[in-house]
Formats: sequence, C-alpha cells, structure tokens
Amino acid sequence: MTEPTSEDKAPQYSLPDLKDLASNGDLNEEAWQGLYHLAREEEIQTNEASSLSDIPASALIELAEKVRGEPDPIKRYELVSSLSPREGVIWFDVLETFSDKSSRDLIYDSLFLSADDRRRIVDLGTGTGNLAIALEDLADEVIGVDRVDKLLEVARLQSPDTIKYHQAEVFSTGLAEASFDLAVSLGLESSFTKVQIAALTQEVSRLLRNGGSYITTFNTLGDISEFASTAKGLLADCIVDTVSGKSALSNEDKWEYSDLESAFELVGMSLIESYENEDGSMIAVEFVKS
Ligand SMILES: C[S@@+](CC[C@H](N)C(=O)[O-])C[C@H]1O[C@@H](n2cnc3c(N)ncnc32)[C@H](O)[C@@H]1O
Repeated sequence: MTEPTSEDKAPQYSLPDLKDLASNGDLNEEAWQGLYHLAREEEIQTNEASSLSDIPASALIELAEKVRGEPDPIKRYELVSSLSPREGVIWFDVLETFSDKSSRDLIYDSLFLSADDRRRIVDLGTGTGNLAIALEDLADEVIGVDRVDKLLEVARLQSPDTIKYHQAEVFSTGLAEASFDLAVSLGLESSFTKVQIAALTQEVSRLLRNGGSYITTFNTLGDISEFASTAKGLLADCIVDTVSGKSALSNEDKWEYSDLESAFELVGMSLIESYENEDGSMIAVEFVKS
C-alpha cells in the first residue's frame, strides 16, 4: 500500500480528527492542509459563512493564503487585522483562542494570590480588550494599549466607559512614567524577538511605580491542539507559529523563558511568582519592580 499524499488524505479529516492530529505533535502542515480542504469543500457548496469561521469560505481561503505567505509573524498579525474581510471580525476567532476564559482566569487568580494596590492597570497588547474588560472591576482605572486601531475600535465598542484605550507600540507607549500599579499582557510576547523583549521590559519598568508588577502569560505546547481546534480553521497555522515555536524567527532572534527573566533583571525587576492553570497549558509569571 502506498502512503497517501496530503492531497489524498486531507479531505478525510474532520475537525475532531484534526484535533487528534494536533495533539500528536504533527499539527502545522497536515492540519493546515486538512482545514484548507474543508474550506475548499465549503467554498464549492456555498458562499455563506464557513463552519470553520464566521466569514465565507472563499474569503477565509484568500486571507489564509496571504497570511501563510508572510514569514514575519508581526506582519502576519498586521495582515490578519488589515485584510480581514469584515473589519477585523476574523480577529475574534483568533483572539478568543488566545484569550479564552481559562487564560483570563489564570491572570485573575494570580492577582488575588498576590493582592496589592491595583488602582491603575495597563493591559499591553490589549487587542479587542478581552483582558482589560475581565480586570475592570479590580481597578480604579484600566488602560488598554495596542498598535492596531481596528482592534481598539472593537474594544471601545464592547467596553464600559471606565476603560480607556490608547493606540501605541508597547515599546514606547507615551504613557506617564511610574503611573501604573500593575501591567498585564496575554499573548503579547510570543512572536517577539529578543531585541523586542528587551525593549518591552524597559517600557514596562518605566511605566510601573516601585513595588508595581507585571504579569504575563504563556501557552505551553500542550495547549496547541485546543488552539488549532478553536481557531476555526485556516488561521490555525498562523496561531501555532506565533505561540509555539516562533517558527518564522531565526534561531538568533528566538527568545527563551530565561531571556525574559534576564531582560527583566536588567531593568531592576525580579520574578516573584509563577502560576499554572489546572492542565498546565497556561503559565503566568509575575515580575516586581523593586
Ligand atoms: C494574541 S493578541 C492578544 C490580545 C489580547 N491580549 C487578548 O488576550 O485578547 C496580541 C495583541 O498584541 C498586539 N501587539 C503585538 N505587538 C504589538 C506591539 N509591538 N505594540 C502594540 N501592540 C502589539 C496585537 O495587535 C494583538 O492585538
């Protein structure tokens, strides 16, 4: 019996099959092929919304091909938000996988474990404001920062007036020095280079008062299958690249957890806690400015 090519094999995949594939550690190419075929089948049947997403299959395919053709993960983010057929709506598919309830709960629980004065919170890489909204009741003031205007427009629409949004690079936010008690981020650093990590730590330290802390979260590889299945399709590979291996970065650019710790040490911030969710798929770390 000859080995089937991915071309032959792909149409046999159902979404649950693809989830299994992902958990076997074989996700990238095969899952993408499988999802691509499912979308192609849908494209023939209907021009209505795809079961893989909430946009038509043809638009999903076009977008995914463009995103897949861009090797720089930062530019991929930009492509996803700028080419999105319905003004960034596809970002909901992507963002919900990064920012599902368990990851937001993890940050939330971390805050209670080290309860402190949380009057002003800044959410870096806020996207559509998922985390900022979840933290709103813990602070007098929450400010979300993101570079993508379209995402902030959505954030403003779905947030109470007490949350403010500010368009800026997280490396130079322009917000006042030492003006925050807590900085948070969810899914921000995955695609950063080492140089960007260093720039981020400088800015985080600048923004925090002494004694203030930064809590950020990481997805571990175990969570990738969840991402793939809930990413609703063709953007799964984009997500997997950005959260798992930073595969579009050269070895020199890739950062490890120890690089993050060293970069924070250089700006006078030390690791005080790390937290995991129940299945170990998300880890949150907290650095404090002394
Ligand atoms: C994976 S999304 C997470 C969004 C949000 N934290 C959530 O959990 O729903 C990462 C976000 O970081 C933003 N981002 C990435 N690099 C950035 C930068 N250099 N400056 C500002 N925002 C950035 C992206 O635009 C995107 O909205």
